[in-house]
Amino acid sequence: MLILMEENYEALSREAARMVANAVRRKPDVRLGFATGSTPLGLYRALVRLHREEGLDFACVVSFNLDEYIGLPADHPQSFHSYMRRNLFDHINVRKENVHIPDGNWTGKCIEYCAHYETLIARASGIDLQILGVGKEGHIGFNEPTSSLASRTRPKTLTYQTTQDNRADFAPNEQPPEAAITMGIGTILEARRILLLASGAAKAKAVALAVEGPITASVSASALQLHRDTTLLLDREAASELRHRDYYQRVVETTRKLNPERLW
Ligand code: F6R
Repeated sequence: MLILMEENYEALSREAARMVANAVRRKPDVRLGFATGSTPLGLYRALVRLHREEGLDFACVVSFNLDEYIGLPADHPQSFHSYMRRNLFDHINVRKENVHIPDGNWTGKCIEYCAHYETLIARASGIDLQILGVGKEGHIGFNEPTSSLASRTRPKTLTYQTTQDNRADFAPNEQPPEAAITMGIGTILEARRILLLASGAAKAKAVALAVEGPITASVSASALQLHRDTTLLLDREAASELRHRDYYQRVVETTRKLNPERLW
């Protein structure tokens, strides 16, 4: 794991955009895994800017989203389909047929639909770069605590904490969804590179447990310790509960000298 620390959310978003843009420039048909939520919004804004101002080309990019709420119509403003259109896809030249987001209103058997989503990823030769956020309890995707570290795409019940965190996004008379389809931890770990973004003090504990705690199903993000090319991009607050910050900085400096590719 490489731990990069930035001063604030703006700097974190800028750096994340630089990394993703480099991945697109190096491999125009790069397979990108996208997350939703508040954390990657700055990254998506920066990517839209790079597309408009520098012609960053998404024409051959293929994308897979991590998750989608179950039962929410795709055109509901809080669906992840709407989120992705509003914050990224409507503003760049990605092709509709290259975009994949789990269908929270699938027809047929859920388990078969989830297997189909895994097949789509496999047929695309897997994900080159998976972007992740992290929940306060350490979830990645919607892999809530106790999710198997080997889990695959499947329906998942959301915890009380997650539904509470999501409540603000829904009208007071609306019940936030209580379940989602999510890529599993096993699915996520198959991405060739992983970039996890975390911002703000509310994420500090989850980040510390993920990096410095044991690998455990109680903290899904701790499974990233098993991945050989994961970068955590944190702002100062999200990094505040890490005990070995100086060491992580030295690792970055050494990496910059010896293996600059690792830093994108
Ligand atoms: C969203 C997702 C979630 C979020 C996490 C953090 O697609 O998979 O794991 O990344 O809940 O959400 P924010 O960024 O809103 O704090």
